[in-house]
Amino acid sequence: MVSVEIYRYNPEVDAAPYMQTLSLPEEFRVRMVLDALEYLRVQDPTLAYRRSCREGVCGSDGMNINGKNALACITPVTQALSTSNRLVVRPLPGMPVIRDLVVDQTLFFKQYERVMPWLITVDANPPIERLQTPQERARLDGLYECILCGCCTSQCPSSWWNPEKYLGPAALLQSLRFILDSRDQARDARLESMQDPFSLFRCRSIGNCTWVCPKGLNPMGAIGRIRLELLRKE
Ligand code: FES
Repeated sequence: MVSVEIYRYNPEVDAAPYMQTLSLPEEFRVRMVLDALEYLRVQDPTLAYRRSCREGVCGSDGMNINGKNALACITPVTQALSTSNRLVVRPLPGMPVIRDLVVDQTLFFKQYERVMPWLITVDANPPIERLQTPQERARLDGLYECILCGCCTSQCPSSWWNPEKYLGPAALLQSLRFILDSRDQARDARLESMQDPFSLFRCRSIGNCTWVCPKGLNPMGAIGRIRLELLRKE
């Protein structure tokens, strides 16, 4: 059997959070962590977590698996067990727990909204859609793939220390996606909105964001690129 420890907390009945010890049949070693949770929830239907696509696309099952934030649906149990003889599952750190593995992402999405994640144009609408060359489109590679799972921001100490003021790696990566978009006409305003000590510059290049991104993106590199764009603007 595989030993599993899961963070449990139901504020309506529990005085405090606790770790529940459960076990999985051996065959789950070759399955994903989400499969293990589905199995365990059959044993205990009160276990709460988010999931939807089961394909690493929707970003709803971000959680902390053996110390590293990841998507449960694309994280093999064997991978988690490579650093421990137990599977340990906790909610995303740095975010308020609603229940068990479900966290409140209100602030995370508020920071996302702050970077205005939509195209801003001032010109009159063209008769056809706004076109891009293949080269202009290629500038968005490595940025548009973000699925907003929150794994990077939740593993970032700068976000833990200044959750309200620091935008966090996910929002900053999304910001660069629009700064570099050839169709967007608010580049300077976007950059100016981050010229304070916290929004962008609170990043300390710790790199946890890039370490954990389940899509293989590089939020720390994106933050560095925004700093470069600010220098070019001056
Ligand atoms: Fe959608 Fe895992 S369930 S990313």
